[in-house]
Amino acid sequence: MTVERTVVGIDVGSSKVCTLVGEVRGEGNLRIIGVGVTPSRGLRKGVVVNVADATAAIAASVEEAERASGYEIERAYVSLSGTHISSINSRGVVAVSRRGEGIAVEDVDRALDAAGAIAVPYNRELVHVIPRYYIVDEQEGVRDPLGMHGFRVEVEAHVVTGSTTAIQNLVKCVTGAGIEVDELVLSSLAAGDAVLEENERELGVVLVDIGSGTTDIAIFIEGTIWHTVTLGIGGEYIANDIAIGLRLPTRAAEEVLVRYGHARPAQVSEEERFPAEPFGESNVQTLPRWKLAEIIEARAEEMLKMIVQEIKRSGYDGLLPAGVVLCGGVAQLPGIQDLAREAMGLPVRVGQPRGLVGLVDRVNSSPYAVAAGLVSWGLMADARRPLPKGGPQWWKRFTGWLRALLPG
Ligand SMILES: Nc1ncnc2c1ncn2[C@@H]1O[C@H](COP(=O)(O)OP(=O)(O)OP(=O)(O)O)[C@@H](O)[C@H]1O
Ligand SMILES: [Mg+2]
Repeated sequence: MTVERTVVGIDVGSSKVCTLVGEVRGEGNLRIIGVGVTPSRGLRKGVVVNVADATAAIAASVEEAERASGYEIERAYVSLSGTHISSINSRGVVAVSRRGEGIAVEDVDRALDAAGAIAVPYNRELVHVIPRYYIVDEQEGVRDPLGMHGFRVEVEAHVVTGSTTAIQNLVKCVTGAGIEVDELVLSSLAAGDAVLEENERELGVVLVDIGSGTTDIAIFIEGTIWHTVTLGIGGEYIANDIAIGLRLPTRAAEEVLVRYGHARPAQVSEEERFPAEPFGESNVQTLPRWKLAEIIEARAEEMLKMIVQEIKRSGYDGLLPAGVVLCGGVAQLPGIQDLAREAMGLPVRVGQPRGLVGLVDRVNSSPYAVAAGLVSWGLMADARRPLPKGGPQWWKRFTGWLRALLPG
């Protein structure tokens, strides 16, 4: 079957760079044809701190995905994260230009421009202006105003801004690796696209992506985004505590976390032990796993409490019956779901990218939510732009399939 469109996502994380090449074919499925996962360098807490290193890491990930797919990558949707990101909800109002014909794409665009016209300080820039819902004259809660009749159209939008320096450095690294940026996408929004069910977004849910250096949080209610925030905490904090607590080099502590970690010491048998080489010991020692789990639980619990505080600060904590969906590397920690349920007082599940076919055995897990989401975001981006009459054939099939996954 002929390939009708190819979209590339690059998740530039603090611990890994993941490039995914996705294809839409005649049957309308999103097929992953190339995967490149390489260790990240030159990033701290989601932000570039060394341009040369980060550029090399991105280039290595892109090359691996090119080799796997045989597709030459020229452009990509790229993840954006970091504590420099901030977001607010804002309104834009405009008069409908040609009342006889109903609300047109141009009217909606002008309303979005108005919503995005917030006072952005000189060292920050707009990242997203995402329409949440529209108000046409007095009618609230309109999801798609196109073609409706009215005198004025108002948009309620989620406006995301970030530090110009951080954004320019990231773009510099991606372009330095020979890739043009289609769009920068906030990590939590991409992850939400990949892992959330439509009914969760409708009811009220918080997506929490706990990576290595950052935790990206996004609250969805009534099918739209209400709040986003990034905290500078993640798996490296836990690894640090393990390094200190068990006197291990940092790299060994990280390995121990991934291989033997558990967030619930009470669920670990007293006999279980694991090999490690602490400082000052010439031989490999075997250490009790429950001791490791105690260190992990204390830090993970503290991080989860910080996340709860952030959710409370948003003011939407009472509106989340679908609870928490965890993703990112730390969501793979055994016992984390149980601990999160207790520490957060909400239902918790671990999210994985949904609806992918092709080379998916590796990317069908929580650390790849952002990369998978970037690819579906890229495909949806076309839907947000005006299409030629009726849209291309593949698009109709694809959106039919996508509607099953995402809010329309
Ligand atoms: N099985 C596991 N148990 C515990 N922790 C794990 C496990 N697998 C991965 N991690 C931790 O998850 C982190 C990596 O997660 P992820 O790949 O989501 O990060 P990233 O996207 O590179 O970084 P960030 O999003 O913070 O910029 C590391 O700190 C790693 O130690
Ligand atoms: Mg990440």
